[in-house]
Amino acid sequence: MGLDPEAQVKKDLERLLPLLNAKLTSRFEHGEAVKVAEAMRYSLEAGGKRVRPLLCLLAAESVGADPEMALSGALALEYLHTYSLIHDDLPAMDDDDLRRGKPTCHVAFGEAHAILAGDGLQAEAFGVLAADASIPAEARVEAIALLAEASGWRGMVGGQALDLEGEGLETYGLDHLKTIHRLKTGALLRASLEMGAVLGGADGALREALRSAGAWLGLAFQIQDDILDATSDAAALGKRAGKDAEKGKITYPALLGLEGAQRALAEATENASCHLQSLPKPGSLEAWARYLAGRKV
Ligand code: IPE
Ligand code: IPE
Ligand code: MG
Ligand code: MG
Ligand code: MG
Repeated sequence: MGLDPEAQVKKDLERLLPLLNAKLTSRFEHGEAVKVAEAMRYSLEAGGKRVRPLLCLLAAESVGADPEMALSGALALEYLHTYSLIHDDLPAMDDDDLRRGKPTCHVAFGEAHAILAGDGLQAEAFGVLAADASIPAEARVEAIALLAEASGWRGMVGGQALDLEGEGLETYGLDHLKTIHRLKTGALLRASLEMGAVLGGADGALREALRSAGAWLGLAFQIQDDILDATSDAAALGKRAGKDAEKGKITYPALLGLEGAQRALAEATENASCHLQSLPKPGSLEAWARYLAGRKV
């Protein structure tokens, strides 16, 4: 029997976060455009749970590799994710003023610099992977392709578009809701695990298991995000709550009620867990799946 999920997650954070933090902002320190650099560092350093990079490092470990082999993948995921949050908060999108416990990037630096900070982070995400000569070229290209698939219009960007278009829909079904969540959030979580597999040198079957687990984990993650928006508050979340209902967003609680959303969350987590069973070392990822389903932030 392993540790309980919370203790396992704490232990993983203690050993892996220093790796990530040591390099998190180094690509944003020297350059001419100091204000946009400051805006990128501001959003990166504001905090965040670092779920995607940690899952990437743990996925590499789960296939028997040293987690450090996936470090540039982990950095890329956090840059990409932070860019998606900066743009998600813009007035033209969710129009939020609080993120990671601080004023949103556009509130602190203005809209133009927030857009550019997001653009800059996105480019660095691909740059940090491309420049990592310690990764065999083939794995590097595969990881870059996975990130492009997950973040582009067949992934996060597409999901964000459907999410915004959904604000105006009178009715919608579960299939449409699942599509939005799979794209806007699921795709990057799925890529987190699959990039860890690729950078950790996993074979096709292990890679497939992590891809499937990641897809379910991603769906579960957004269902819990929807539930927290409906049930928690800004002091706990570090971002505004109650916004989804206010904006008429397509969410699990809106369609299925809170209990239905909880059931869907449990089911998605269980499915993720099943796919993890075939891994050489599923322990940490299993604990993370359970921990994330019960997270309060
Ligand atoms: C929030 O992601 C946006 C979603 C895709 C649900 P996180 O909950 O991972 O945000 P941070 O990184 O901890 O701020
Ligand atoms: C965001 O979903 C998904 C992203 C791609 C950023 P939300 O709009 O629900 O995320 P929060 O609740 O603002 O963090
Ligand atoms: Mg949004
Ligand atoms: Mg939002
Ligand atoms: Mg949300």
